[in-house]
Amino acid sequence: MTFNDLIDRRGTDSTKWDKMERLYGVSPDDGIAMWVADMDFRAAPPVLNRMKSLLDHGLFGYTNLDQPYRDAICWWMRTRHNWAVDAEAIFTTTGLVNGVGMCIDTFTAPGDGVVVFSPVYHAFARVIRSAGRALVECQLVASDGRYEMDFDAYDQQMTGREKMVILCSPHNPGGRVWTQQELQAVADFAKRHDLLLLSDEVHHDLVFPGNTHITMQNAAPDITDRLLMLTSPSKTFSIAGLHTGQVIIPDPTLRGKFAKRMQALSLEGNSVGQYATMAVYSPEGATWADELVTYIDGNRQLFDAAIADIPGLRSMPLEATYLAWVDFADTGMDRAEFTNRVEQTARIAANHGTSFGTGGESFLRFNLGTQRARVEEACARLKAAFGDLQ
Ligand SMILES: Cc1ncc(COP(=O)(O)O)c(C=O)c1O
Repeated sequence: MTFNDLIDRRGTDSTKWDKMERLYGVSPDDGIAMWVADMDFRAAPPVLNRMKSLLDHGLFGYTNLDQPYRDAICWWMRTRHNWAVDAEAIFTTTGLVNGVGMCIDTFTAPGDGVVVFSPVYHAFARVIRSAGRALVECQLVASDGRYEMDFDAYDQQMTGREKMVILCSPHNPGGRVWTQQELQAVADFAKRHDLLLLSDEVHHDLVFPGNTHITMQNAAPDITDRLLMLTSPSKTFSIAGLHTGQVIIPDPTLRGKFAKRMQALSLEGNSVGQYATMAVYSPEGATWADELVTYIDGNRQLFDAAIADIPGLRSMPLEATYLAWVDFADTGMDRAEFTNRVEQTARIAANHGTSFGTGGESFLRFNLGTQRARVEEACARLKAAFGDLQ
């Protein structure tokens, strides 16, 4: 198996391929699915091997794998991210959106403000609003084609009713790996306005050469008493459907509160997701992740070069993630027209920028976590669809 092997996922109940016609009007017969953050690669071999041995054993009863599971997570964070995680600080949720929802539910009240840096991963806004909290968008500023934060403006926006700020680190959809200074500035902002800081670091293993991800706890140890960390192997290892994420809470008081809420709802991880986590958080998983990043980096370079060749289109330089954020503003087209060209002419399903909040209006997000041949085909189609601009 190599990353180049084309896998036909159509008709397999895949959200990415089997829902795209309904959502984007792009038929899977001749369309390319480049939306939701789900890769077209088989899960890493350690997962497949572990699943095979589970099947051979054939029993799916209650499990007692708590300690080895925690140890595997601590090992990964220490060796890959230089981050010392207290094994007792780890909670397992039904994926990370559930983790975000649980944190909002536990630590804020209806009507409280929850701050995000927009445009940002769309599920944050959905969960905040569904929970009856107020979404507060602090808009990122594009400077030299990459996102930065403007804390002078954000300070002005705060009303005193905000209770939490959510950071996406690395950033989806802008692909930024935040620097030490930027992370410290976010931490200072949280402190200044007495906010809990939730740092969603699900993309932390998908970082391209030349960039280093710094975990929020390492960047700003002084705000550990207000910190909620979210991680998961789901994006890196093609196991998002196993719905397993970790909420890591270093502060014992916050941790106690969260534990109570988890108990009240009787929430705990499922064994399949936990076995998969243990399998990939291993030396074998690390080798696979390194190979994956190299492959995605190749896709990214190819895609960026093709986009740069189309007048009017601009792809934000990706420092991390397999999600390319492409700006169509300079085409002079309205949203309906550039979207129509991508969906109906190029027959590509890409996420609409509007769903990521304020600032995303002129963008589409393309998932590059797929076989090189598909990326090449997508580039050729985009070139043709916007050919009249050349
Ligand atoms: C920042 C971020 N958090 C969470 C998720 C999804 O997490 P899960 O599928 O575990 O709920 C995504 C998926 O794209 C994401 O980009």
